[in-house]
Amino acid sequence: MKKLLNNNNELLIEEINKLKKEKNAIILAHFYQRKEVQDIADFIGDSLALAQFAYKTDADIIVLAGVVFMAETAKILNPEKTVLIPDKNATCSLAESCKYKDFKKLKEKHKDAVVVTYVNTFADVKSISDICCTSSNALKVINSIGTENEIIFGPDENLGKYIESLTNRKMILWNGRCHIHDKFSLEKIIKIKSKNENIKIISHPECRKSILIISDFVGSTSDLIKFVKKDNSKKYIVVTEPGVIFEMKKECPDKDFIPAPPDDADCNCNECEYMKMITLEKIYSSLKNEKFEIHLKKEIINKAKLPILKMLEIS
Ligand code: 13P
Repeated sequence: MKKLLNNNNELLIEEINKLKKEKNAIILAHFYQRKEVQDIADFIGDSLALAQFAYKTDADIIVLAGVVFMAETAKILNPEKTVLIPDKNATCSLAESCKYKDFKKLKEKHKDAVVVTYVNTFADVKSISDICCTSSNALKVINSIGTENEIIFGPDENLGKYIESLTNRKMILWNGRCHIHDKFSLEKIIKIKSKNENIKIISHPECRKSILIISDFVGSTSDLIKFVKKDNSKKYIVVTEPGVIFEMKKECPDKDFIPAPPDDADCNCNECEYMKMITLEKIYSSLKNEKFEIHLKKEIINKAKLPILKMLEIS
């Protein structure tokens, strides 16, 4: 391994590419991944696009450079394939906030409600959901549900409240928060804006309402990228995990992107430590040793597949 790490990662990348070919494997990466991981991926996308891509791939092995719920979604859509996550500790604060037992209790309290879960949940929670959504299709999904129905929406409360404000519909919200998006500093963002003329604030809907209100644009990671491509401003405060800036810079090399700072006194950037757990070394080892494989019970796969497929149909 030592030898593979020399030479600007070149040998490591070469070995990863060799293994990919040998094993008919692909690497799917989320926009929050490290730059070098995004660079070797066969496909980079937001959580919806990753699920869509995973559903149609004919590779035998899928390496998910993202977090565990994304790898689980790929496995649910491809039960016969080997799905690998290079670090099994790459979790998600939202998914962790919504445990099966507790969520089931809420569902039992509102027996007639339609249960909508954000993809940022584990497979067992999806298995008791009616339909899934991501930040790029949440509005479409909620609008597809008749207004006579009560809706349970979880686990992201900020996204839920944002959708409520767009639809004028009250939902029963789970009180989960993304530990990254919930910590951006309104005060520091306003300060950056006051010092930069013509700068735009672009935010992910997992942010707090106070930030969404002052934003020029709100959208999923891929919507934010699409926005900066077509918008004519030159400078943006990016209020989401800063990994997304690699793709923005690739698409718009002449524009400036300032990562929004968190509330923490001496920290300037809000990186997700779980997303950043995935490294080139771990991808190499994952492909070579076929670890860590996602295993889910057949019964969970069969049940969890339905709400994901419903979401993909709508998207
Ligand atoms: P996207 O659906 O925008 O990719 O967001 C995924 C996510 O996990 C945000 O925290």
